[in-house]
Formats: sequence, structure tokens, C-alpha cells
Amino acid sequence: MEKTILVSTKKNNYPIIINFNLFDKKIFFSFLKKGDSIMIVTNKKIFSLYFEKIFNLFKNIGLKIDHIILPDGEKYKTLVTVNMIFTTLLKNLHNRDTTLVALGGGVIGDITGFAASVYQRGVKYIQIPTTLLSQVDSSIGGKTAVNHDLGKNMIGSFYQPNIVIINLSCLYTLSKREFSAGIAEVIKYSIIFDKNFFSWLEININDLFNLNKDKIFYCINKCCKLKIRIIYKDEYENNQRKLLNLGHTYAHAIEAELGYGKWLHGEAVAVGIVIAALTSKELNLLNNSDITRIVNLLKKCKLPVKLPSNINTYKFLKHIYRDKKIKKKQINIILPIKIGKVFIYKNISEKVIINSINNNKNLLF
Ligand code: GLY
Repeated sequence: MEKTILVSTKKNNYPIIINFNLFDKKIFFSFLKKGDSIMIVTNKKIFSLYFEKIFNLFKNIGLKIDHIILPDGEKYKTLVTVNMIFTTLLKNLHNRDTTLVALGGGVIGDITGFAASVYQRGVKYIQIPTTLLSQVDSSIGGKTAVNHDLGKNMIGSFYQPNIVIINLSCLYTLSKREFSAGIAEVIKYSIIFDKNFFSWLEININDLFNLNKDKIFYCINKCCKLKIRIIYKDEYENNQRKLLNLGHTYAHAIEAELGYGKWLHGEAVAVGIVIAALTSKELNLLNNSDITRIVNLLKKCKLPVKLPSNINTYKFLKHIYRDKKIKKKQINIILPIKIGKVFIYKNISEKVIINSINNNKNLLF
């Protein structure tokens, strides 16, 4: 069942290995040699679950292995936490030959990737994503970032890893809530690229939640392939990569307004997708039956589809203006025109956005 997919980027090519039980297998790290050092970056929960296995993966190569345990959660995705990594690296005399290992979910991956991109002007790093969300999205494609109080992922870089190791067995230790959050990004891919995949999800969603091995493998492999195709064409998000941000303008505003970590990123994405669909409806771009199918699938996955009632529309709008796709104060948002097709709609009026937000709050989903 094992699959290796090669990602081709401007600066390097790297493999993504996908399989169950990957931590028990021998993995060849062509870029590591005896005497090199690695720093494993993880959190407390993941440390207790997987550290020993990861240590053994690298032990045989003859490396100096250090680790750092970071506080867990989106609210710690900050420059302060990145600085903790730098301090540990410097105290342990890690130089340019070091490789950082991101062992955890999207937060660990984003922080570690960013630290790798700037430590001593750039060192190698390995992504070992342990959540569904990080396996299908954040570990692939080299987006690294930390949050600022004024905006999500506002400080970061494009910096590709040297290998991504997707151990599907990690999904067995994931909470249902975390799994649902990851499914939001899976549904996102299907709405952007592939109506047949959306229909497949409608049929197979229960099997995915029951961690049916074949279905899980198919689904994650599919998402990785869809993403890699885009990275190959537009690594630095000048054009098509923007489409991967379906629902994210609204999602980032939810996360910033509620306080980072209150909702999981995938939960905010689920509501973001629904508001994007309502924006399309407001502009007569999307029919009701597609909106209903999207909402029903998200609900079947126990994902939220409505904004929290205490969100103030005008404060929410302020966050939208900080989105990275905003140019010259024009609101540009990725909108679905049917399931399987989205595009970037430019210069949307504030009125349309406000109506979409209010329609989301008022609709009886
Ligand atoms: N998560 C969207 C991207 O990597 O471009």
C-alpha cells in the first residue's frame, strides 16, 4: 500500500511517503549523514506517544539527537515560541548542519518550518505530521508561519521540507474533534478541484471516520496529489495556489476574532467555506442545491457551519481587510461556482460580504 510521491519545487525535490506503521519501517534519509545533528520539535502529547519510535528512526544513522517540547495549541504559534527553539539550538551547539524535525500537527509543523527557514539563514527540516489536517495540507508545500495578535500566519516564509513522512497510523490516536477538523480541509479540496471526489466523500464519510484503511489511504493520497499539482505550478502563491485558500479569508477572521485556539483551524475553515458559498449565492454564482450539499456534508462530519452568535460583523470585517489576498483595499475572495470549481473573485463590495456574514448568522442550518 505504501506510496511515495515526489514534489518538485524551484529549490529542491522531496518525497512524501504515505503508509500505515511508518515509524516501524526503515526510512532512507539521503540528506543526513553520520555526525549530523537533529532537533526534534514536538509537544507533550506527541512526545509521549511517538518520541521513542522517532528517536529509533534516527538513532541508527549515528546522529546527535536533541529535542524540545513546546506548549500545545494555536495560541502558542508565536515568535516567542520560535525563539524557544532558537535558544535550545544555540545552547546545544547546533550549526548549519542541523536538521529540524517537526513531529506533530499543523502548529508544530508551521513553527518548526519557520524556525528552519531562518535559523542560521536556513537549515534542513523534516515534516512528520500526526494529525489529519497536517497530513493532507499544512505539512505539504512549504508554507511556514507564526501568528501575530493582529492576524493569523502574518509572519512566515515559503520554505520546503526535505521529506514528509505521513504515518497514517497516527490517525488512530486522534480525537474525533481533531479528525473532523482535518476532514474540513479534505472537503475543501473536493469543492475546489473534483466533484467526483466530493461525491465519493458523501458516500464514504462514515468509513473514513471509522478509519477504514483503504478509504483513508485513498483519501489522503488523493489530497496530497491534488495539492502537489498546484505547488508544482505555483509554489509562491502568485496564481493558482490562492485557490487552496477557499474559506480561509473568513476562517482566519474567525480565529483572530475568537482568540487563537478557541476553535480548531479546520472548524473555522468549515464555517469559512459556508460563508464563501453564501457569498457566491449573493453574487448569483452558486445554486442552492450545491450549498445544501456542502452544508450537509460538513454537518455530517460534526463540523460547525455557522458563525458563533457573539461575532460582531464589523469587527469581523476588520480582520478580513488584513487578509493576504487584499490588494489596495479591494476584497478578493475564493468563491465556489459549483462543486469542483472555484475562482478568485476580485473587488467584492463590503455590502456583499456583510450580507453573506449576516445570512450565515440568520440561516436555519
Ligand atoms: N494551505 C494552503 C496552502 O498551502 O497553500
